[in-house]
Amino acid sequence: MIEYHLPVMAKECAEYLNLRAGGIYIDATVGGGGHSRYFYEKEPEIRLFAFDQDDEALSQASKTLENYNPVFIKSNFRHLRTELALRKISAIDGILFDLGVSSHQIDEAERGFSFDKDAPLDMRMDRENELCAKQVVNEYEVRELRRIFKEYGEDNLSARIARTIEEERRKQSIETTGDLARIIEQVAGKGSKESLKTKVRIFQALRIYINDELNALSFALQDAINILAPGGRIVVLSYHSLEDRIVKNTFRTAEQDCLCPTSIINCICDHKSQLKVLTKRPVLADKEELQQNIRSRSAKLRAAEKKGE
Ligand SMILES: C[S@@+](CC[C@H](N)C(=O)[O-])C[C@H]1O[C@@H](n2cnc3c(N)ncnc32)[C@H](O)[C@@H]1O
Repeated sequence: MIEYHLPVMAKECAEYLNLRAGGIYIDATVGGGGHSRYFYEKEPEIRLFAFDQDDEALSQASKTLENYNPVFIKSNFRHLRTELALRKISAIDGILFDLGVSSHQIDEAERGFSFDKDAPLDMRMDRENELCAKQVVNEYEVRELRRIFKEYGEDNLSARIARTIEEERRKQSIETTGDLARIIEQVAGKGSKESLKTKVRIFQALRIYINDELNALSFALQDAINILAPGGRIVVLSYHSLEDRIVKNTFRTAEQDCLCPTSIINCICDHKSQLKVLTKRPVLADKEELQQNIRSRSAKLRAAEKKGE
């Protein structure tokens, strides 16, 4: 059987979470349940709340975790605090965010995340959401497309690709991942490493936009830090620089005691340090894992501990 999704740096995540019997832990992105299963194997007495916005992921995770007793929550993790409050949880001992999409979501052509297989342009992680990639590509103004590609894909060909999309959709609606890939190739060329990277970046940009990934991450990180109990741990695995920057900056800000500009001598912001960052540099997968799991190559792990008595 093909593995649904191989969890990345599971051992390191478990160690940084510092699992203990009776502790309340959150898997904010349960996916196929690989990380959660590893956590239960390490410490069977944890109380686990497992989030995902994708029904298929939750159904797979419930199989993976059938021998355990987690609470599954179908929700975007941006609603973390509310969803936990509804279940009378106001403080937690640890939380893992394993960001982005799972290998399964990418492999399943019909989800429209990948340009390797021709499929309808979709890219919604939560299929109950209305906005999908086909709408954005066919209906958004060139200026907005360029902004999305530049901001979330950081690709230098963003403007030309946006213009070419507009020319092509006047002739015929852009329906599939293959249609979009061919348009990108018209601008970036075909077969070269650079053109492949451009396709990756443009698809990534659309996916981030459709799922509002960066805003969800910013909200959820702050909420997670606020509800961590003293000594509680937050662990984040990110897979591209935009995510990693948000994690690094959020941790850094939460670690500082005062956020006033240096020109102000007596602090007026009253900001108090909430976190101690445990990973001064991001942790990367080791050689063995890099060989076994291609997805681990871009992974960066950052962890922090909540301060207080
Ligand atoms: C990289 S996979 C997680 C894999 C998982 N750790 C495992 O071991 O199988 C990311 C998962 O997070 C989910 N996801 C991404 N962003 C989310 C969000 N904002 N809210 C809830 N789930 C999200 C995706 O649907 C996907 O299933």
